[in-house]
Amino acid sequence: MLLFKKINDLQNHLDRQRADGKTIGFAPTMGALHAGHISLVDKCNAENDLSVVSIFVNPTQFNEASDLDKYPRTEESDILKLTQAKCAVLFMPDINEVYPKSTENTETFDFGGLVKVMEGAQRPGHFEGVVQVVKRLLEIVRPTRLYMGQKDYQQFAIIQEMLRQMQSKIQIVRCPIVREPDGLAMSSRNVRLPADHRKRAVLLSQILEKAEKQAKQKTPAEIETEALKRMENEPDFRPEYFKIVDARTLQPVADFTGENGVAACVACWVGEVRLIDNKVFD
Ligand code: PAF
Repeated sequence: MLLFKKINDLQNHLDRQRADGKTIGFAPTMGALHAGHISLVDKCNAENDLSVVSIFVNPTQFNEASDLDKYPRTEESDILKLTQAKCAVLFMPDINEVYPKSTENTETFDFGGLVKVMEGAQRPGHFEGVVQVVKRLLEIVRPTRLYMGQKDYQQFAIIQEMLRQMQSKIQIVRCPIVREPDGLAMSSRNVRLPADHRKRAVLLSQILEKAEKQAKQKTPAEIETEALKRMENEPDFRPEYFKIVDARTLQPVADFTGENGVAACVACWVGEVRLIDNKVFD
């Protein structure tokens, strides 16, 4: 695996690859890699000639400075995992490389309701920061395909919309959530769960499974109320939202008949750790 820290060096290498007609799959990350990230690399490798992964902990998407400080930095083990996964290129820029002038965001996209609900409502400014950094990284890497995990369902939907508004030729690929054997969605935050919380955190994926089954008999509102109550009754759980939404617009739905399909999305504190998960209904 080649490791680049400077944009010029990365671009010289990638320009040569493109000149040879090679396709480039790109997976942006903030490090602290787990099997979910590695599944993106596997897909990049399967569908492209070359895989590029970036590791950059983007300060502009953290709405609380303490979250940025707490974010796990596991450079050495990340490099090992990517090497084992046969990642071709790792890009690890520092902040001056990504934001040479300032971190001020001058982008103006209109995402309408997409950014106003769920994570957007709970974490003001978060998606503006995500859009800012992903756009910048795409300008640097210029991939054929962009690989993003379904775990951050709203993030995926917003970046997809950004590419649409930019009339970009980059194809975005949604990669399925990778789960622990008991069903808990993999996340860099899971390691912060104490054993008892870790065991019971599986409740989130169980509630999503149940919600999908209930869709035949109940309304979205009824399912949401029941799911919220179930989490509220569990000691140490503090749900922020459980929403059944249009899978494309992310707006609430009154029934299950819409042509875009629906997704159930949940955010819940389990002790000190905020977890998210989702399920697109079949
Ligand atoms: O999903 C993440 O890890 C980040 O939001 C991303 C897409 C790498 C942007 O910093």
